[in-house]
Parts: sequence; structure tokens; C-alpha cells
Amino acid sequence: MTRDLTVTMEAHMRAIDEHTITEAALDQMASTTDPRLKEIMAALTRHLHDFAREVDLTPEEWLEGIKFLTAVGQKCTAYRQEFILLSDTLGLSSLVNALHDRRATEAGTKSSLVGPFYRQDSPVLKLGDTIVTKPTNGLEVCLYGRVTNSAGQGVPHATVQVWQPDETGNYDLQKHDPSEMDLRGTFRTDADGRFYLRTIAPLGYMIPMDGPVGDMIRAQKRHGYRPAHIHFIIGAEGYREVVTALYLQGDEHIDSDTVFGVTASLVTDVRKNDPSSPIPNLPTIKFDFQLPAAAAYGSGRVGADPSQIVAKVAS
Ligand code: BEZ
Ligand code: FE
Repeated sequence: MTRDLTVTMEAHMRAIDEHTITEAALDQMASTTDPRLKEIMAALTRHLHDFAREVDLTPEEWLEGIKFLTAVGQKCTAYRQEFILLSDTLGLSSLVNALHDRRATEAGTKSSLVGPFYRQDSPVLKLGDTIVTKPTNGLEVCLYGRVTNSAGQGVPHATVQVWQPDETGNYDLQKHDPSEMDLRGTFRTDADGRFYLRTIAPLGYMIPMDGPVGDMIRAQKRHGYRPAHIHFIIGAEGYREVVTALYLQGDEHIDSDTVFGVTASLVTDVRKNDPSSPIPNLPTIKFDFQLPAAAAYGSGRVGADPSQIVAKVAS
């Protein structure tokens, strides 16, 4: 009797091996009611299994992978997001940005990475103000341009959030107490969509290398640098938010950014003599941003103020 039951069960049981395991896992997840979650988890499972089969992953190697991911999580704080850094250095953040740009219904400025140093509460300043609050040896410049819609008409009262590293390649969060903000500001465009402010030319820098992602970069013999850049988040009522950055021509790492944020249309330069500068006698960095019409979904940000991610996980 017992033997018969065993034989019947064996006849019905799936033999789990390195090939049937994928189907078995997908079958069990088929009860997921959210269709998008179901699609994403099924694809993730298929690709993860294919990856393990392709490299013939050993238990020791997978344990190393789990240790690495654990260390990435342990490195995260309200001011440090090692998982975003991992996504950035694997090129995944830029890929997600490119997919996002492709979904826009109108032409717009290309996206680039938010990076780990964004803060959503930067000081609100007037056009022409400086974002420099600390003594600096940097080259003072006028940063200016226009925010337009896809037809080239100025977008008045658009919010322009800007943040950048200093002339040594450091962000305020890396140098001071987080309460002391420097080289960040939030501006509003004028009636023609114009913005202008004073700042300093930034220097390129190494991504944070004191964590598990830094260990990965060293193991891969990559240089770890980002070329000089200035970050922007630009938004206005009725438009899709543009999260981007401008990159400075001439930087030695302009074509080998460790996080793949540079694309040709976002490269600009410092001009010594610019007769169109709204602040005379200063070198300029000029760029016009284009906002596509609002999307029906999501803000389009890859990355966030790290304190928001930690807060969400904790709640
Ligand atoms: C940044 O631009 O600040 C950045 C972006 C990705 C990784 C590290 C830094
Ligand atoms: Fe940056």
C-alpha cells in the first residue's frame, strides 16, 4: 500500500533538475494577481536562471554574490545609497533612463543619472544668485539657458534644481555636516523660460570607492572616475520632469564615465567670451533644456534623495 502510494506520487511529481527548475518556479508564481509584477518577476527569474546556467555557477560563487549584496545593503544610510551606485556602475540606471526617454510622447532633453548626492530640499534662490556658499578657489561662471517645450517656446516658472561638486570634485555632503548645503539651489525660470545663476566650474571625481561597489570596480581594473558635470532636475506643470546633467568638454574621462551618464547631446563647454551672457564679464556654461509633455505615469527619476529611500523602507 505504502509502496503503491510512493510510486503514484513519483509518477506525478516533477523531476527538478537544472532545466525543469525554471518552469517549476514560474508555475508557482503564476498566481500573482498584479500583471506587471507577474511579468517582471517571471522575466527576472528566467534571466537569473539562464545566467546561473550560462556561467555554471557554483555554490561558493553564489555565496560570494550573496555576501556582496549583503555588504551593499549594509553600506546604505540616509546619505549613502550603495544599491543605486551598483545599478549605476552596471549600466542599469542608464539603460532604464534610455528606455524612459524612448517612451516620451514628445522630444525632450535626454536623461542622465541623479547620482547619490541629490537633496530635494536645496535653498530656493533668485535668478542671478550664486549657489556658492563656502570659500572657493573655483573658476566663477555664469550658468544660463532656457527651458522650452518641444516646440521651442519658453516655459515660464519652471523649477530648475541644480547641484554639483566643487573645483576639487567633492560634493557638500562629502565635506560638511549635512545641514550645511553648498553648490545647490532651486530656481524658477522667468516669463520667457530663462534661468541664470552664478556658480563655479566643477571638477570630475571618483565615485564613492569605500564600499563593496568600489571593491568591484577595483577588481575590474576600472578607473572609477566621472567626468566633470552639473546635475539638474527641471519640472513644470503639464510637463514630464527632466532629470539630467551637463558634462564638460575636455574632461579626460568624458568618453569612459564609470556610470555611463554621458551622452553626446549633454556635452557642453565653458566659454571665455560670451556676448550673450546675462551676467557680463564671467565665463559661461550655456544649455537650453526641452521638456516633453507630461507622462501619464511616474516621475522618470532613476535614483532619489537617499534619505527618502531609507525612510520608505523603514515605514
Ligand atoms: C554623481 O553624479 O554624483 C554620481 C552618479 C552615479 C554614481 C556616483 C556618483
Ligand atoms: Fe554627480
